[in-house]
Amino acid sequence: ALQRTLEGVHVAISAGGTREPLDPVRFLGNRSSGKQGYALARVAAQRGARVTLVAGNTADLPTPAGVDLVRVGSALELRDAMHKVAADADVVVMAAAVADFRPVALAGHKIKKTSADPDPITLTKNPDILAELVSARREGQVIVGFAAETGDETTSVLDYGRAKLRRKGCDLLVVNAVGDGKAFEQEDNAGWLLSAEGAEIPIPHGSKVQLASVVWDAVTARSAEPQ
Ligand code: C5P
Repeated sequence: ALQRTLEGVHVAISAGGTREPLDPVRFLGNRSSGKQGYALARVAAQRGARVTLVAGNTADLPTPAGVDLVRVGSALELRDAMHKVAADADVVVMAAAVADFRPVALAGHKIKKTSADPDPITLTKNPDILAELVSARREGQVIVGFAAETGDETTSVLDYGRAKLRRKGCDLLVVNAVGDGKAFEQEDNAGWLLSAEGAEIPIPHGSKVQLASVVWDAVTARSAEPQ
């Protein structure tokens, strides 16, 4: 039988990539498909949650049954939408690929091609939405982040993940190893689910729906514990 373990729970999930506008027709973007965020929304809805999915640019994905979809473009739009939805949510999951930077200037009209060399694109930092949501956290709200990491000679993917969990202050962090055809635009994901209390749950290689199940199991287990 289907476990309706998220009955009566409102979850806010971000998915997909942001597009940072340069002019009315151009943007800086990324390759996020949104599949992981959509899988999280689908599984949460199947488990009985009320789901609000805030989606940036994604592949052509069907909206999961019973999910409220809010479309956004840029990181600043995603930030506004997430703050609004999170104010009423019991669980917040940031699965979106938020651009770290955006162009400083948004041209009012299409940037023209001229015989002169083009102007360089000057960038400014976007806010860290996950860290902001942690600062604005409601009592008892569970906040989940994602991290796509590559390891190097001195520091492993897992160590980078542990440091990011502490830095961001979220309750749970999904760490995905990236590179070598892993994670982005892929059907499958693997990695670890880290908790603020130090739990490290390995997530076996599997579908994004399977990863979503691991995340919702952990969220449900947390909510069951006395805080
Ligand atoms: O720092 P990094 O980009 O690796 O962190 C990834 C996590 O932070 C993801 O959950 C992502 O959705 C979130 N994030 C954010 N705002 C940003 C950048 C990332 O909320 N500007």
